Amino acid sequence: MDFSRSDFPQGFLFSAATSSYQIEGHGFGGAGKTHWDTFAATPGNVVRAEHGQLACDHYNRFEEDLDLARDMGLDAYRFSTSWARVMPEGRGAVNAEGLDFYDRLVDAMLERGLKPQATLYHWELPVALADLGGWRNPDIAHWFGDFTTVVMERIGDRVFSAAPINEPWCVGWLSHFEGHHAPGLRDIRAAAHAMHHVLTAHGRSVQAMRALGVQNVGAVCNFEASLPADSSPAAAAAAQLYDGIYNRFFIGGLFQGAYPQDVMEGLAPHMPKGWQDDFDLIGQKLDWFGLNYYTRKLIGANDGAWPSYDYIDGPLPKTQMGWEIYPEGLHQLLVWVEQNYTKGLPLFVTENGMSNADTVGRDDVERMAYLDSHLAACKTAIRDGANLRGYTFWSLLDNYEWALGYEKRFGLIHVDFETLERSPKASYYAIARALAE
Ligand code: FCB
Repeated sequence: MDFSRSDFPQGFLFSAATSSYQIEGHGFGGAGKTHWDTFAATPGNVVRAEHGQLACDHYNRFEEDLDLARDMGLDAYRFSTSWARVMPEGRGAVNAEGLDFYDRLVDAMLERGLKPQATLYHWELPVALADLGGWRNPDIAHWFGDFTTVVMERIGDRVFSAAPINEPWCVGWLSHFEGHHAPGLRDIRAAAHAMHHVLTAHGRSVQAMRALGVQNVGAVCNFEASLPADSSPAAAAAAQLYDGIYNRFFIGGLFQGAYPQDVMEGLAPHMPKGWQDDFDLIGQKLDWFGLNYYTRKLIGANDGAWPSYDYIDGPLPKTQMGWEIYPEGLHQLLVWVEQNYTKGLPLFVTENGMSNADTVGRDDVERMAYLDSHLAACKTAIRDGANLRGYTFWSLLDNYEWALGYEKRFGLIHVDFETLERSPKASYYAIARALAE
């Protein structure tokens, strides 16, 4: 690969990410059912109705997986804690075995010299809370605050960094408006409520961590470059609105104490009562901010109901996901976030990577090229003023890619889902060489 540590500032952190439901195996260890289990059990939602009951069996193989992370030369490892594993009913009783697991996992990282980067919620909501309306229910802020306390009382003294929720856009919009992720709703009121409550829950969680003295607390949002599909004014307006919903809504709440005007033109009538009063809670002071970035979208206008836009197929080379490869977007978004929102706060790219139809022994050149081009974009963003302190590969392992099942392989390590054998890909070895130099 083309990058080396010396391209980046002293102390720049390289890490790889995973998430609990995507790798652990949720069918054992006393974990409660999650809305991903029921979503996957409903025909038509997930490719081949695949689910996370076994996944990569990381729950039983985490030592081997962390050995591989250490041997790659990574500085840190980004993981998430499963709410339903720790609190099977979402509230009340704690599953001691589940909490012990994260305790041992954190210690195992530290033993290997990997800094633990914790995310509290990466999408597997306990079904008992889904029954109560899940992210639509304002009480979720308190439930999530209590879960945060339970987890961080146990591991908060040893994590390097902590973020409450992975990708509010996915939790809110993708899951409640587009219906592609659990709970699979397509309802504007549900979406508006979930989008707001994901941020109030974030705020409560940060407060809970501050009360425990947890250090280095941040947030992780996802971003996509949004471009008009043609030169019409309508397409320009549509791309602007897509940008508002995807890129400006959540970070606006977190850093500006307001939601963008253009988005509120559509969402305001559907917001929960009193939403205007919640920005003190939402805007808790943060120590860092993380961006997940994969692709761009070309957006066209339509005559349908708000938001009246379509995703248009673009001409650039695509990954196995059908996502266009557009590293310029990462550069632009890092500089834009720095200048308009975070203004000097440490930034991290908390996810970036590509899926490919990998087999063991494949040359893996596309992934190396993708990663090189996005690391180069990070480098130019730093040159242009972004206070970027680290970069995280998605993902350490091939895993459960949500509605797309086990077919989309994002890992630096190949996983055979029959035998569960791990085989590092060529990109893994290339990164190891680059990081060792
Ligand atoms: C992100 C998710 C992660 C994975 C990648 C491909 O949106 O955080 O779990 O699905 O996309």
